[in-house]
Amino acid sequence: MEFDPSTLTANHRYKLLVGAVLPRPIAVVSTIDAHGRTNVAPFSFFNIVSVTPMALALSPVTRPDGTDKDTLRNALPAAEGGLGEFVVNLAASCWVRQMSAAAEDLPPGDSEFDLTGLTPAPSRVVRAPRVAEAAVSYECRTLQVVRLAEGVPLSGNIIIGEVVNVWVRDGLVNDAMHVDLDGLDALGKLSGSGYCRTTDRFDLVRGRTALDAPDPT
Ligand SMILES: Cc1cc2nc3c(=O)[nH]c(=O)nc-3n(C[C@H](O)[C@H](O)[C@H](O)COP(=O)(O)O)c2cc1C
Repeated sequence: MEFDPSTLTANHRYKLLVGAVLPRPIAVVSTIDAHGRTNVAPFSFFNIVSVTPMALALSPVTRPDGTDKDTLRNALPAAEGGLGEFVVNLAASCWVRQMSAAAEDLPPGDSEFDLTGLTPAPSRVVRAPRVAEAAVSYECRTLQVVRLAEGVPLSGNIIIGEVVNVWVRDGLVNDAMHVDLDGLDALGKLSGSGYCRTTDRFDLVRGRTALDAPDPT
């Protein structure tokens, strides 16, 4: 079967994307607004985009009513009314319920920290707090926001953030900067309300030698 995106509903385009591009890592993004009020929300349209500069990107899509999500508003560069900063906290299985609860669409000013019981902890460089439950948090300064179709419901607004400080729980990373995956306990987002853990893993050499390796699966 083939599908021409221009003939599909937005809901069907969404399902064809999130149902196959998976598992997706989950960024739990903490921000503050101009009044210093905190906000936390999960995003799975999220990934690494650059090593030098060290950068991450996520996409809070435009709400069905055409407005920006609070995370986007807060992370916009100062010239566009935001604070130009945010923290990406990596979601883990042990606080998955709080992560999901943070997706509640609260009025601006009502904090998902209060709703979820997640704990704000001071960041070192940016004003937004990190989430203390996360094993890894990346403090970011907004480099660019790319709006794919301003004001159009479900359109992407890609926030690219330069990492200006990395917080890692003591003991989670060794001298070679290898992160302990069991300690990280990372989650993946599937379609609908589905999630997966990162407990089923295997190693494989890279490149043509992979063809001669035993099947690792
Ligand atoms: C696991 C998970 C992943 C999500 N990923 C996204 C995403 O990538 N983009 C998006 O716009 N909304 C995503 N959402 C929904 C937002 O978290 C939700 O709209 C939230 O209310 C936005 O909060 P804010 O207005 O405080 O920024 C996701 C929700 C969950 C539970």
